[in-house]
Amino acid sequence: MTLAVSRSIDLSRWHTFAMPATAEAALTVTSIAELQLALHLPQFNDVPKLILGGGSNVVFAENFAGLVIRNRLLGKRLEQTDDAFLLHIGAGEAWDPLVRWCLDNGIDGLENLALIPGTIGAAPIQNIGAYGVELADYCSYVEYLEIDSNELRRLSAKQCQFGYRDSIFKRQLLGKVVITAVGLAIPKQWQPQLGYGPLQQLQNPTAQHIYDVVVATRQSKLPDPSVLGNAGSFFKNPVITGAQYQQLQQRFSDIPGYKDAAGVKVPAGWLIDQCGLKGHQVGGAAVHQLQALVLVNKRDAVVADLLALANDVIDAVEQRYGIELEPEVRILDKQGRPGWQRC
Ligand code: FAD
Ligand code: EPU
Repeated sequence: MTLAVSRSIDLSRWHTFAMPATAEAALTVTSIAELQLALHLPQFNDVPKLILGGGSNVVFAENFAGLVIRNRLLGKRLEQTDDAFLLHIGAGEAWDPLVRWCLDNGIDGLENLALIPGTIGAAPIQNIGAYGVELADYCSYVEYLEIDSNELRRLSAKQCQFGYRDSIFKRQLLGKVVITAVGLAIPKQWQPQLGYGPLQQLQNPTAQHIYDVVVATRQSKLPDPSVLGNAGSFFKNPVITGAQYQQLQQRFSDIPGYKDAAGVKVPAGWLIDQCGLKGHQVGGAAVHQLQALVLVNKRDAVVADLLALANDVIDAVEQRYGIELEPEVRILDKQGRPGWQRC
């Protein structure tokens, strides 16, 4: 087996922010055997490796000094029990087409997660979520290749330690594994999830109807990355203590907040909006006019523009509300490691 390696890669085509960045080399894997080989190629022994799915949750703060491995591990397997549909999905399958395939095949449950860009393999990393549902609600296991041993392993959903935009893959297993497949268990007894925003008004909807409303809602405020570069919500919604929330309510009586296991979740989009930052621009990067939590590549932005803009947003929210926003997007250094120092 040989792998086709390309050199001097232009990464702007491979991530949805579409800003200039390069990588030393790249290849695409379509099977686990190819992935095992790619991770241990002697000519790339000493360089960092970066797994890339759809590139919809990354920013390249620097040129990447290593080998990009594009994940195209495809395939779906469906089994059934009396109570549930059991799916085993290759990590390179795209998320939204899977949701549509499920609906077309009478498997209802994933419709609230409509139109989220990216691959199945990245979904467990930040436990993708939208409109009151998250991957953790349907995930039964995650299969991965352990890079050091080159062996396949499996974690149950419980072992994945899913949280809000969080999992073991961002912590203990960061940089140590490549996710190769995800197992989903979708109950046959369908329960529509209608608790979030515009879904609350629906009367006896079908899953397809929910899918359509979620798509329409998303399209009304989230920019299409093929038109305007972005990576969805740039920051996480901060979770603060009940006491801090009550203090803020005394000064800002209309501040929204939603009880969360760890405290009160405050919508970062609202905080940024209230700071008057919609449309605020640094170079070619801007706060989106329709959704303040989304930063966009408005016109020929470079990463320095975007990071300066992110700094402005964090500073403004901190000054007004005493809350420090944290990026949700992965800001990668030249080694492919996530993290970022504010200036
Ligand atoms: P990438 O951006 O390719 O990778 C993300 C990170 O995961 C990188 O560090 C990469 O190295 C690592 N990685 C990727 N694949 C693997 C693998 N197989 N094994 C190990 N590591 C891997 N997210 C939500 O949760 N909810 C939303 O509603 C939502 N809406 C969005 C809307 C828009 C317009 C956009 C652009 C993004 C949105 N996102 C949302 C964020 C994004 O879609 C998700 O985080 C998605 O799961 C990223 O998938 P990807 O394949 O593009 O990951
Ligand atoms: N809001 C404003 N002004 C804004 C944006 C939002 O006032 O400019 C207010 C809204 O009116 C609403 C609240 O903030 O009351 C929440 O807004 P929205 O429903 O749009 O959701 P969000 O908190 O901004 C989160 C996720 C999204 C997910 C949606 C829907 C995070 C970080 N973001 O956004 O996920 O699609 O809920 O469930 O949790 C992503 O992760 O990339 C992403 C897009």
